[in-house]
Amino acid sequence: MHRFTSRRLAPACLAVAAMLAATGAVQAQSAQGGKIKVGFMLPYTGTYAALGTAIENGFRMYVQQQGGKLGGRDIEYFKVDDESDPAKAPENATKLIKRDQVDVVVGTVHSGVQMGIVKVAKENNTLLIIPNAGVDEATGPLCGPNIFRSSFSNWQPGYAMGHVLADRGMKKVVTLTWKYAAGEQSVKGFKEAFESKGGKVVKELSLPFPNVEFQALITEVAALKPDAVFVFFAGGGAVKFVKDWAGAGLKDKIPLYGSGFLTDGTLEAQGNAAQGLETTLHYADGLSNARDKTFRLDYAKTYKLQPDVYAVQGYDAAQLLAAGANAVKGDMSRKADVYKAMESAKVDSPRGAFTLSKAHNPVQDFYLRKVDGRENKVSTVAVKALADPARGCRL
Ligand code: BEZ
Repeated sequence: MHRFTSRRLAPACLAVAAMLAATGAVQAQSAQGGKIKVGFMLPYTGTYAALGTAIENGFRMYVQQQGGKLGGRDIEYFKVDDESDPAKAPENATKLIKRDQVDVVVGTVHSGVQMGIVKVAKENNTLLIIPNAGVDEATGPLCGPNIFRSSFSNWQPGYAMGHVLADRGMKKVVTLTWKYAAGEQSVKGFKEAFESKGGKVVKELSLPFPNVEFQALITEVAALKPDAVFVFFAGGGAVKFVKDWAGAGLKDKIPLYGSGFLTDGTLEAQGNAAQGLETTLHYADGLSNARDKTFRLDYAKTYKLQPDVYAVQGYDAAQLLAAGANAVKGDMSRKADVYKAMESAKVDSPRGAFTLSKAHNPVQDFYLRKVDGRENKVSTVAVKALADPARGCRL
């Protein structure tokens, strides 16, 4: 049996002490002058791949416009493809936080994956900026000092459309979505507003994410003869749904509405099938603010692409991070000061300036838009300065 004498322990202790000293030195160096490490956890494959790329493009463009630095420090990027797979989320988030030691996680798109990231970010008190996923819990019961969103809650765009359809005198609506938080919570927001004004959601239909076998459900909707249909689909699935709806001959028979993800970033692929569709979202084509005009020109020049809502959310995620990093002159170890500066930021967004709610979700206008050619043209503001109710958030 070994006895751990002080002579045996001494070399081991010295080695551990040396390692701790080295880690401390690295951390001190990183706090003072190393790069700020940004970890993108986004979908780069699958039905939401284009959304992930647009978010990263928007984020990088803002950083480039600041000379590649935030808070006086260069930025180093790390990337993980989350594949929109909730089962892999905790492991992927842990890779960025523990292995790559990022200062901030920027992610993600899919609400189910977001739940896993929020959990890991909370456990490690790592700054998290959500650049899309609307999962209500992130700025509801799971809100936290280190959790911020540059996008929307799932409740918000659905709620805005509920008002629009009720005000148009619609009475009987069927809903159709993918069966996961984004679809279900959009419908919940829609129903809350629509039924508060006398409408009725007569049937809630769904199919598993990311299934695109829509035909049987489209037939079922037609048989129900509703006044209108409200849907949540996005990315590649939204392209297929809009084409299938038109292909089934329903485009001019049953009015189709959705949250704006149905037609954002998808119009090239949807073509004629999307013409005239109306949706609600916190961004639109044809806004009149100066920030949007320069943003669109810069984006088109940089990427040879038109921006969409996802690019805006990525751009604004970088603006939020800049608010925090600038306040501490790049010393991201001053977490409480970073969070405080981010909380009180007024973000000069292409969507129109916004502030954050107490739960760290944007308080923002929701536009009614109509597809015209390759644009989601703004018609009007459906709900002004809409704040998510943040039910269950204790901050
Ligand atoms: C979501 O999963 O939260 C989501 C995905 C795509 C567009 C909008 C929301």
